[in-house]
Amino acid sequence: MSDTVPLHYEELGTGPATVVLLHGYPLDHTLWQAQLAALSDICRLIAPDLRGHGQSPAPTGEYRMETLAADVVALLDRLDVAQAVWVGHSMGGYVALAALRAMPERVSGLVLCASHPFADPPDKAQARRDNARRALAEGTASVVSGMLDTLFKPGTNLESIVMHRVRATMLNTPAQGVAGVLLGMAARPDSVDLLRNPAPPKAIIAGREDQIIRLADLQALATQMPHLSLHVIDEAGHLPMLEQPDATTAALRALLTYWLR
Ligand code: MLT
Repeated sequence: MSDTVPLHYEELGTGPATVVLLHGYPLDHTLWQAQLAALSDICRLIAPDLRGHGQSPAPTGEYRMETLAADVVALLDRLDVAQAVWVGHSMGGYVALAALRAMPERVSGLVLCASHPFADPPDKAQARRDNARRALAEGTASVVSGMLDTLFKPGTNLESIVMHRVRATMLNTPAQGVAGVLLGMAARPDSVDLLRNPAPPKAIIAGREDQIIRLADLQALATQMPHLSLHVIDEAGHLPMLEQPDATTAALRALLTYWLR
């Protein structure tokens, strides 16, 4: 793992089990602030800034999801953690799936939060490659500015404090980080098959009003795979941990308490 980068991270809580909380694109670990505080009584929580985001390094080039996963595993190695439950928000879920594919022995459970296992259709992959070029040529704002209102449930006050915080976090993401993960997301494979095995335990937490991920697709997965539990958070879009922090924490607490018993 010589090409991994050292990740900035926040850690809270103690306990025999470790949970890693992975943010989505183009955000950082502060996305999980409420859950870090609220779940630290039941486990050790580690929330990194993924490569290219927050305070972590942003090298040049494409960031494959397996590379982001390798960075997280290198961090777990440094912290002496052999196995963890991987909770991934959106792109963080793609990273957790990449970890499950490449290093299943490091994954004791998987939660996709406002995330899914499908590859990009060709038009979406092409749009990401175009946006990667734009980010490098014109800067982060040229690509991320239009995303903000799609992250929240329809009708959310665009001037709320939470919105301002998310906007600032997004704009703080280096253009190289934006481009790196856009190229990596475009290249990721379909991972539906990884969910078919009941072990390690797996779950999905979804915002009922997510404008980016179709709830019906997640419901179809959960119907096909009865071991895959689906928790739907009402009054939430693509950021349930911010829009409904208590309900999201409660869903995570219920899963973790059951899995770590
Ligand atoms: C995210 O929130 O991480 C992104 O919406 C993921 C994606 O673009 O597929």
